[in-house]
Amino acid sequence: MDFQLLATCADGLTDLLAAEIKGIGGTDVRTGYRVVYFTASEEVTYAAHLRLRMAGRIFRILKDLPAGAPNIVFSKAKQIRFDKLFAADLPVAIAVISASGAGEDSGELPAHLVGSKLREAINDSFQFHQKVVPNQSSRDAKVSVRGFLHHRRLMVSLDTSLEGLHKRGVRVPGHPAPLKETLAAALLAVCGYDGTTAFYDPMCGSGTIAIEAAQIATGTAPLLLRPKGGFGFEHLLDFNEPLWEKLRATAKAARHDPTAKIFMSDIDPEYVENARQIAGYAGMGGFIRSEVKDFFKTAKPADAGTMIMNIPYGQRLADQDVTPEFLAALGDHLKQAYQGWRCGVLAPVSSPLKSIGLKPNRQAAFQNGLIPVKLLVFDIY
Ligand SMILES: C[S@@+](CC[C@H](N)C(=O)[O-])C[C@H]1O[C@@H](n2cnc3c(N)ncnc32)[C@H](O)[C@@H]1O
Repeated sequence: MDFQLLATCADGLTDLLAAEIKGIGGTDVRTGYRVVYFTASEEVTYAAHLRLRMAGRIFRILKDLPAGAPNIVFSKAKQIRFDKLFAADLPVAIAVISASGAGEDSGELPAHLVGSKLREAINDSFQFHQKVVPNQSSRDAKVSVRGFLHHRRLMVSLDTSLEGLHKRGVRVPGHPAPLKETLAAALLAVCGYDGTTAFYDPMCGSGTIAIEAAQIATGTAPLLLRPKGGFGFEHLLDFNEPLWEKLRATAKAARHDPTAKIFMSDIDPEYVENARQIAGYAGMGGFIRSEVKDFFKTAKPADAGTMIMNIPYGQRLADQDVTPEFLAALGDHLKQAYQGWRCGVLAPVSSPLKSIGLKPNRQAAFQNGLIPVKLLVFDIY
């Protein structure tokens, strides 16, 4: 049986995520506002949870309803056989969010009102078909029913990821400004990194980009380390455990030693230690060479490769502004010391990027938390 799914993502990632979804076998792929819709078999659905690097969450779409009035929401939603999807005693969280884009004049019903109608409908569905009251306690919920309100319609879905998919299960605190793993994966995708050439992050912080690169270079599925029961679909009545275990076993067997070297460094020894620890938990410790060093005073670690740096900026790093002098020195160092490398520089859009003094071969805009950022890619000859 095929499922209709939607995967959410951050600004700037939709096209990259759509390509990733096609790559694992998703069909009817189309993009929306911070979202990619697709169709997938049961096997591709499970693979999506295990292998997509850029998806924030994945939802199984149950029904698309008219939502112009509260009683319509209730009467249409109660027709969904929730009792066939999850057990009544399992805690279920129910929430509705407005999915209208910024600046859209949606004219929707308030999301909390639609949410309360959806809650009533779920109750009704269980009471009518099974004469039981479902456990609508969001504490420790293993099932999450999520409604997306858009243009007076309500898309009712199940959050089959449970926790955000950027949570690879290995991060430990220690750096004030780590990138989200999903954004790190997007930076690597824009640079065309496929794991066959050397990779270097010279301002690695907690090592997010280098660890993601090492996973690509070793064929490691990003969510392989999420523990049993960590995905929402594992708590549904139709969970096909043998198929899921088969996919996990195949993904484990597909891991291999990298053919290219991965390097990371930072000027701050504590951050390098933090990055080493996380890389170790991710099973990538043995594949990444790490050092404490100043980017501006050191040479490239190999003749050629891909380098990505997320330069220091923003509120979480002591309100550092990116100065023209810093960027000019960075551009000079790239020109002088990085021949043969493709270099990606992630910086706030608001910084004086022209001071780098190099013409980017490619660029892409993203959102890093609340900060609009740009990745500039330079091929240095
Ligand atoms: C925005 S953070 C990188 C965060 C990282 N991408 C992560 O996911 O954790 C920028 C890093 O650049 C490092 N840094 C600043 N100046 C540096 C220099 N001259 N050489 C090497 N690292 C430097 C800082 O210590 C900081 O960890």
